[in-house]
Order: sequence, then C-alpha cells, then structure tokens
Amino acid sequence: LRVNWDLAVAEKDGYAHFMLKEIHEQPAAYRRALAGRLLTGYPWVYLPELQLTAERLRQFRSVHIVACGTAYHAGLVGQTAIERWARLPVLTDVASEYRYRQPLITPETLVIVVSQSGETADTLAAMREARRQGAHVLAITNVVGSTAAREADDVLFTCAGPEISVASTKAYTTQLLVLYLFALHMACARGTLPAEEIGPIVEALGRLPEQAAALLERADDVADYAQSIAWQEHLFFIGRGADYAVAMEGSLKLKEISYIHSEAYAAGELKHGTLALIEEGTPVVALATQPELYEKTVSNIKEVIARGAQVLGIAAAGQPDLSVHAHRTLTIPDTHPMLAPALAVIPLQLLAYYASVTLGHDVDKPRNLAKSVTVE
Ligand code: AGP
Repeated sequence: LRVNWDLAVAEKDGYAHFMLKEIHEQPAAYRRALAGRLLTGYPWVYLPELQLTAERLRQFRSVHIVACGTAYHAGLVGQTAIERWARLPVLTDVASEYRYRQPLITPETLVIVVSQSGETADTLAAMREARRQGAHVLAITNVVGSTAAREADDVLFTCAGPEISVASTKAYTTQLLVLYLFALHMACARGTLPAEEIGPIVEALGRLPEQAAALLERADDVADYAQSIAWQEHLFFIGRGADYAVAMEGSLKLKEISYIHSEAYAAGELKHGTLALIEEGTPVVALATQPELYEKTVSNIKEVIARGAQVLGIAAAGQPDLSVHAHRTLTIPDTHPMLAPALAVIPLQLLAYYASVTLGHDVDKPRNLAKSVTVE
C-alpha cells in the first residue's frame, strides 16, 4: 500500500496556509493563555510564575512597554489597560527607538518587553539596557527557552503554540490576553480597581474563546469584502482609543502580506491632514467598538463619507446600529470595551489574508520579510 502525502499540507491541518490555520487556532490559543489564570474572587488573576510580589508591584512609579511590529501594537493596547486599571503612567515604544534614546529608567520602572519569538535583536538590546539601568524586566513571550525568557527577571508565556506564518496572528491576540491578565493582577495588588468592576472583566475574559470562535464562523463575509478591495491602491484604517491600536495592527497586516498601501489614523487626527487623501471610492475601515468614543467616531465616519469614502464599519454588539452610517458593517460579539481588540482584530487578520490570496501572493512568506528579526 502506498500513501501519497505532503508533510507541509499535513502540518496545515487542511488549511490552505499556515496563516489561515493560525487565525482559526485562536479560540484554542485563548483558552491556553487563560487556562488556570482566572479566579472567581480576589485576587481574581493567578500568575504564580511571577517573582514580583504585591509589595513590589505597589512600588513601581511607571511602566515602559517595549516591542517591535505586531508585538508593539499589542503593547499599545496593554498600555491602555494598565493605565486604566492599575493607574500607572505607561510609555510604549518600538524597541529600535527606545534603545537609543536614553530612556529615563529607575528601579521604580517596570519594563515589559513583548516578543513572540523572544529573539528580536532590538527588543533584546532594549531589555538589556533596561536591566543595566536597574529596571525590573518582565518578558511576555511565546517561546519557552528563548533569550528573552532566559534573560528577563520575570516571564509570562502567551501559550499561543507554534506560529509559522510570518504574519503574526494568534501570537498577537494571546499577547493581548496576557497583558490584560497582568494589568488586572497589578490593579489588584495596587488596589486601584473595585471588585465590582473586576468581576465583569474577568467574566468577559472567560467568554473570549467562544466569542472568537463565533466570529470566525463569519469569515466568508470578510472574504467577500477582501475581494472587493484587493485591487485598490490605498486603504485607510481609523479608530479612537483602543480601536486606534487595532487599526495600526490591521494596517500592518494588510501591508505585510497583500502589499496594498494602507495607513492607520487616529480618527480625531483626520482633519489635521489625512482627510486630503480621501477621494471618491477610497476604502476606509472604521473601528467603533468603544462606547465612550462611539459618537465621535461616527462623526469621523461621516467626514470621510462626505469626501467619497466607502466605509466598512467594525462595530460591537450592544451599541447603536453602525450600519446606519457605514456602507458595510461587521459586528463583534458583546464584550468589555477594553477587551474588544481581542475580537475586533480577527476580521482585520482575515481581511489581510483574503486580500493576499485574491492577489495571488505568497501569504505565509511575504517578500522581504523574515519571521524573526535577529539582526539590527
Ligand atoms: C508581524 O506580523 C510581523 N511579522 C512582525 O511585525 C513581528 O511582530 C515583529 O518582528 C516582532 O517579532 P517578535 O514578536 O518575535 O519580537
């Protein structure tokens, strides 16, 4: 008996590309990232692997989050969560800038480095510089045994599982989850968030895996939209607050694998220059998942539509109907607003994927890029 099979196809589990497989693995990856880490009462989050004591967590005066690319975008969401929940000033920077700009670090600075591989040259250099200056360094990484995991003072693993595709997907979303967990852990230690607020967040975290799965069932809607924009020269992503951070990630993903030029803008910045780029037919993806900022974002959607933009709105269930304003709408399941990025990014990952497939590009190995950037 002779069985013909291809190792690469077998490893892709029936999916056409590793990226698509990894996008669909997210519900399981979320479960692993959260497994054993959520509690039903104080201290709400269980991270026994941390060396940091509650007392030490109360001593920090600032947090720096340092990373590259997609991991940097995860850091921007983490910044919002730490500032809101643990009430500490947070600076988030790309490692290649941070390492050279003489950052103000003291022993009261907690430096969090985020890296899927744990081997990115700039991130490691930034981390070494921070440690040299006396900071406590926490690494959030996917790879057990990586250099970042070995050299940091503390490590939290994202448990995403192996990520083969150059375009990061499940690594990003699990980084978000671990940043949320750590922000809550810090908030509990510092007493900055009342229990009646923490409980619903913890519950909402626990619902994310099944909500991500529900969202993935609607992948065909995104494929359809991707085909409609694949031959466009430019695409814009807009959003406010956490939505802006997700917009940056959506834009990077699209550029990286479809080679379509795209930019992410803080929606409130449009009037300060970017609006000049909007013309008849320009596709704009507008994220409006944040209730506090919803009306403001809607007014930005109206601004771009008035200049001819075709808008895909990313909305959140339980909020006013965005389809009244946008040409097309995709709605993510109802969650805590701070957690919305972990769902809102999924359609953007699918958009980049299907645009790349439509254009016939090598999805898993985009031109000029490597999975891990181990040189400067
Ligand atoms: C993401 O799709 C990219 N391939 C890239 O931006 C990546 O996130 C970046 O190089 C950082 O890698 P790391 O997480 O392994 O440090």
